Amino acid sequence: MPAKTFYLETFGCQMNAHDSEKVVGTLIAQGYAQVPTPDEAGLVLYNTCSIRDKAEQKVYHRLQQFQRSGKGKIVGVLGCVAQQEGERIFERAPHVGLVCGSASYNQLGELLVQIENGRRRVTGLSLDTDEAFETPYTCRDNPHRAYLTIIEGCDKNCAYCVVPFTRGRERSRLSQGVMDEARRLAREGYTEIQLLGQNVNSYRDPSLADWDFATLLGRVAQVPGIRRVRYTTSHPRDFGKRIVDAMDENPVICDHVHLPVQSGSSAVLARMDRLYTREEYLERIGWLKNARRRYSLSTDIIVGFPGETERDFAETLSLLDEVEFDSVFSFMYSARPNTAALRFEDHIPDEEKRRRLAIVQERQRAIQLRRNAALIGGVMEVHVEGRHKSLGQWIGRTSCNRTLNFTHPAASDASLTGQYLSVRVTRSGPNSLVGESVCVV
Ligand code: SAH
Ligand code: SF4
Ligand code: F3S
Repeated sequence: MPAKTFYLETFGCQMNAHDSEKVVGTLIAQGYAQVPTPDEAGLVLYNTCSIRDKAEQKVYHRLQQFQRSGKGKIVGVLGCVAQQEGERIFERAPHVGLVCGSASYNQLGELLVQIENGRRRVTGLSLDTDEAFETPYTCRDNPHRAYLTIIEGCDKNCAYCVVPFTRGRERSRLSQGVMDEARRLAREGYTEIQLLGQNVNSYRDPSLADWDFATLLGRVAQVPGIRRVRYTTSHPRDFGKRIVDAMDENPVICDHVHLPVQSGSSAVLARMDRLYTREEYLERIGWLKNARRRYSLSTDIIVGFPGETERDFAETLSLLDEVEFDSVFSFMYSARPNTAALRFEDHIPDEEKRRRLAIVQERQRAIQLRRNAALIGGVMEVHVEGRHKSLGQWIGRTSCNRTLNFTHPAASDASLTGQYLSVRVTRSGPNSLVGESVCVV
């Protein structure tokens, strides 16, 4: 087996996906080569997620599978399960040699050297860093669309959430660093940037420039060559009116806002420690609905939070009806280590959570069917992401974050990937649209 090869599998959110791009950059800078399967690799890494119990179990399952086939390899656990479980991972999975949480990735190079020098077990588990993870080289997966971290960690303490325990305190990057990276991405040919953080709205430039998120968003949108800017994730409490103004003023900022609400009941929101009421959430939705542009809205919902009554649940459904989101990510509450909600009583049985989840999804499906059908006949600009060979269709994404698959007369071989095209919508479903490109001569 050639020396210094690695395989990396990533679970979880966009923050993890982007961390992996940086980890790959760090490893390549250290002389490692990436290989496509664990069998070919000397070093096997899992960048893990712990947001719900299922996500964590998936990681242990992977480690067990690998225990049998992975003799002679070094196995590393990175990310949120690494931070949460720390050295306990060595007990549960004795073949693991490296455990490193995201707040310690700045030390990853050094940890790898220790492993190369024969150390059997190394850890990077400090959470009290005030540094963001910066690499001289980031190996991005997509040549057109780039993630760009602006803030790491989270200072909110939502009662159900592990993230503050797995990613540490909030750390904003210097605006200068963000702008330099945005300009470099534009020079390298990227046209779409997605600003990332667990709570981008609380971005606060640590330099004297003292930009807030709305300022930073507007400035990134003005970088020449950048045609689309997205951001994720927003916390409603910190989602100020100035963000809507920045969006209105800069058409480059996409027509989409993901604003996780979690519940439509103010009583549940209070127990979740979300720091806003239903009314305050709806006020923000009002700003977006009354804005100069039409924005597409999406959200996250948790059903079955401890103590959620039928009435609370009905309020979540009525909020879905009132807002009419274009997409909703809905989850059954999952009890997580260290979180405040662990101590709450009135846990809802799984069967009941499943029932509520199905109702939410059914209700939302009908809303999406209706909203997407209303787009038939219209023309939308897509950023082309790739091609469905078997369907003979190209895959596009609209500014409002919908998938719009389309046919194009000329291009069966030529690659349209990365281009921006106008597409007329001809059909719709609950989760996507279908259309044909409009040749603009
Ligand atoms: N920082 C973001 C994302 C957090 S994780 C935010 O504040 O929105 C993404 C989503 O997972 C959350 O919005 C929430 O809906 C869901 N989630 C988080 N913890 C959960 C838990 N313990 N059980 C079920 N869903 C959870
Ligand atoms: Fe978790 Fe809340 Fe922070 Fe989001 S804002 S990462 S849900 S603690
Ligand atoms: Fe999962 Fe960690 Fe992201 S818990 S959702 S990978 S921040």
